[in-house]
Amino acid sequence: MRNRFRQAGIDTPELDARLLAELAFGMGPLDLVNREREPADAEALMKLQDFAARRLHGEPVVRIIGEKEFWGLAFALDAATLVPRPETEMLVRRGLEVLHGRTHRQVLDLGTGTGCIPIAILSESPSTMAVAVDLSPAAVATARRNAERHGVGRRFDARVGSWFEPLRADERFDLITANPPYIEHAAIAALPPEVREHDPHLALDGGADGLDAYRAIVGGARRWLKPGGALVVEIGASQAGAVRALFVEAGLEEIALEKDLAGLDRVVSGHHL
Ligand SMILES: C[S@@+](CC[C@H](N)C(=O)[O-])C[C@H]1O[C@@H](n2cnc3c(N)ncnc32)[C@H](O)[C@@H]1O
Repeated sequence: MRNRFRQAGIDTPELDARLLAELAFGMGPLDLVNREREPADAEALMKLQDFAARRLHGEPVVRIIGEKEFWGLAFALDAATLVPRPETEMLVRRGLEVLHGRTHRQVLDLGTGTGCIPIAILSESPSTMAVAVDLSPAAVATARRNAERHGVGRRFDARVGSWFEPLRADERFDLITANPPYIEHAAIAALPPEVREHDPHLALDGGADGLDAYRAIVGGARRWLKPGGALVVEIGASQAGAVRALFVEAGLEEIALEKDLAGLDRVVSGHHL
């Protein structure tokens, strides 16, 4: 399998082969090596062949495995959810700073996908409640399952709808987080096939200039924030100037920009004072 993966130009053929074998045989890496000479289970071999064929067709390993670790927690994925990425943990860190010292903490996460951002926050902040919104009913169902799995289901209220639409008029939040779709529509065709063909386009497509979701989210945030609350959004590396301008236009203050470990602009935050 390793050789077929290598010949197919897969970046990490050994790792991918090992992870898929662990999944097919239901064994950890040590057992796989120790039991190498035992006759292989026929059902597990069939599974492995199926996984290998999917990988050779370009499906990422995490999608075949069906879960991804984020903030030290395993998140189930499905076809409607983006695979959580490590840089998005910056929103969790910044969000926890915003919540520090506040009481009756309420969080809103827009475009929640797997629910990774609010579930990670709830796992660190026991008395906090979160509302999580996504336009995709399948993503909302997966987010609910992830919240149950991590023991925060009772504090996690996932709703289907567009951005602020599913909120009740009197709801207010200490923190609003969002990692919205931010790729320019025309750039989607040029994304690597592993992203273009396996990530849901609803999670990627930010409209003609990539900023449609920011206009809606930043423009609406102040109405839903408690005094002193903050909006924290993830951005594409070239969007800091445009998103900052939207924060200013929306009347948000103490606007801050953070770079990720690669030195790219990644998170913009601003307060409703
Ligand atoms: C880039 S993904 C982020 C998912 C998750 N927050 C993460 O960081 O892994 C954006 C999410 O926004 C959702 N979305 C797209 N348009 C939306 C809308 N109008 N209202 C609510 N959610 C939307 C997509 O379904 C997708 O789950």
